[in-house]
Amino acid sequence: MQKITGKTRTCGLIGNPVEHTLSPAIQNALAEDLQQPLAYVPLLVEKGRLQQAVEGAYALNLLGTNVTVPYKSEVIPYLKEIDSLAEKIGAVNTLVRCEGGYKGYNTDMTGLKRAMETDGIELAKEKVIILGAGGAARAVGFLCGDCGVETVYILNRSIEKAEAIATEVNRAFGRECLIPMQLADYKKLPKENYLVMQCTSVGLAPDTESVVISDDAFYEMVHTGYDLIYKPYETKFMKLVKAHGGKAFNGLKMLTFQAIDAFELWTGAKIDEAESQKILKTIKEEIGINE
Ligand code: ATR
Repeated sequence: MQKITGKTRTCGLIGNPVEHTLSPAIQNALAEDLQQPLAYVPLLVEKGRLQQAVEGAYALNLLGTNVTVPYKSEVIPYLKEIDSLAEKIGAVNTLVRCEGGYKGYNTDMTGLKRAMETDGIELAKEKVIILGAGGAARAVGFLCGDCGVETVYILNRSIEKAEAIATEVNRAFGRECLIPMQLADYKKLPKENYLVMQCTSVGLAPDTESVVISDDAFYEMVHTGYDLIYKPYETKFMKLVKAHGGKAFNGLKMLTFQAIDAFELWTGAKIDEAESQKILKTIKEEIGINE
């Protein structure tokens, strides 16, 4: 950890709980490596205290914060400005100090896009399948709309949730880019080569043998799969994608790049590939992955 001086700027994570976060380890490692005078701390905010917390952070000259569960949407009314993608999604995970308050961003999604770019994926050119229709799937739907993806099939066990997201995203971007489907109807998908975003909670440890679709016929259409889960490091979904010749990635890079995007917004620094790899390694060490 860097030496803290009178010139150190403070950042932190607003949430509840915040005890298990990896963000202080990531952000303080970035600050040290890039020689930026920044210290990052957990900021536990009790229910009903969010407005005070944001105003207090500003009054205390905090450079910025991350925001996590349960405040990613609740924080929006207390912002001075909001980035247009974050506004569409209706969720913010990064606050950046601006004149008179904070500007909100969603680096979960810009980070996911950047993670995919480092894996050679140009989202705009892909035919996409989203599995799930929870908060993460919804944000990925907006990211696809924002990037100009032509066709996105969103499949969920409860079709109504997939329909609600499709309606919202299609309205936001003024085109019918999201097509909702019931999960079991995956056999009706046109035979194409898909990028699949696994956004359900199925397969998360300790339930590591579970997968939302297990049919070989589905995986034969998948050229690349992203699982937003990173515990286990290789999910059953990823194993199935790889077994059928596809590439598969877990959620750790997304986690890495949401942090990197936030750090760049706060400091103006530019983080290169070598530093990104170093941070990914730090994260793996923090969560006990040795490979
Ligand atoms: P998050 O905010 O992380 O996206 P969430 O909102 O709880 O999490 O969403 C979980 C997703 O996993 C949902 O799409 C959920 O499907 P339903 O909307 O039908 O509940 C999906 N999911 C969870 N358990 C599942 C299961 N056993 N089979 C299929 N889908 C499942």
